[in-house]
Amino acid sequence: MSKPVTEQQKKAEDWITLQGVSFVRNRKTILDHIHWQIAPGTHWTLLGPNGSGKTTLLQLLAGYLWPTRGDITVLGERFGQSDLRELRKKIGWVGSFLQAQIPSSQPPLDLVVSGKFASIGVFDAPTHEDYTQAREWIERLGCLQVLPFPYGVLSQGEKQRLLIARALIHRPKLLILDEPCAGLDLKAREHLLQTLENLGRAPQAPTMIFVTHHLEEILPVFSHVFLIKEGRCVASGEKREALTGELLSQAFEVPMEVHEEGGRYRSRVAFQ
Ligand SMILES: Nc1ncnc2c1ncn2[C@@H]1O[C@H](COP(=O)(O)OP(=O)(O)O)[C@@H](O)[C@H]1O
Ligand SMILES: [Mg+2]
Repeated sequence: MSKPVTEQQKKAEDWITLQGVSFVRNRKTILDHIHWQIAPGTHWTLLGPNGSGKTTLLQLLAGYLWPTRGDITVLGERFGQSDLRELRKKIGWVGSFLQAQIPSSQPPLDLVVSGKFASIGVFDAPTHEDYTQAREWIERLGCLQVLPFPYGVLSQGEKQRLLIARALIHRPKLLILDEPCAGLDLKAREHLLQTLENLGRAPQAPTMIFVTHHLEEILPVFSHVFLIKEGRCVASGEKREALTGELLSQAFEVPMEVHEEGGRYRSRVAFQ
C-alpha cells in the first residue's frame, strides 16, 4: 500500500506501540501483557471471540482508559507525557457505545457536523463550510438519500455510514471501527466493507483498526491481524501468517479451517 509517510511517521515505533500493556478491573485481568506495534500505512483487523478484550484494548489506545501496567504510544504521543484530550481529537471512533448516545431526532447533517466538535448533540456555531464538508462526506459514503430523515428512522447500515462520515470529517489519523458490521444484513455489510476498502486505499487514509469476529469481513485492504483470546495475544502480524486454522482454532476454541479466495477469507468449523 503506498501512502506518503511524513518525517514524524518514519520511525514506526513512534506511530502506535503498546509495550507490556495489562489492564485489571475488579481484580480481573482483562488484558494481559499486550505487545502491539502498528506501522504507518498498515491497516489492522482486531479479531477475537466475544469478551476477549477487543473494545477494552481500543479504549486504551484511544486514551479513554489508563493501563494498569505498560507503555502506550499513539500517533507519536506517549501516554503520561501528553494531553490525551488533544490525542483523542486525532482519533475517529465508530462503535456501538457512541450510537446509543445519538438523539433519534437528530438530522444527519448535524450528526456529521458534530464530529468537528468532538461532541454529540450539542456544539458551537458550525459554519456554512462545516455543513458543506459534512454533505461531501455523506456523499462520499454513499448516503445522500438519508439527508431529509432523522437519525432514528434510518437503517443500521445508514447509521453506520453516518458515524463513519462523522469520524472522518475531523480528518483523524487513526480510525477505530468497533464491529461496524454488527447487525447489518449481507448487502449492507458488503456495501459498508467496500466503502472501507476504498477509504483505506485512498491517499492520506487514516490508519484503520477494524474489529470483528467474522473472517468473512476481513477485506484485502486490511494487511495485518491482531488475534486475541481472553486478553492475551494469540497472533500479531501479516494477515496470511495470523489467519491459520491452527491459530484461529486456538483463539475461538473450536477446530477451524480457513479458506482464502480472491483476497477474501472464510472459515469452516471442522467437526470431527
Ligand atoms: N469495567 C469493567 N469491569 C469489569 N469487567 C469488565 C469491564 N469492562 C469489560 N469487562 C470485561 O472484560 C472482558 C473484555 O470485554 P470487552 O473488551 O468488551 O471484550 P470484547 O470487545 O472483545 O467483546 C469481558 O469479560 C468483560 O465482561
Ligand atoms: Mg467489544
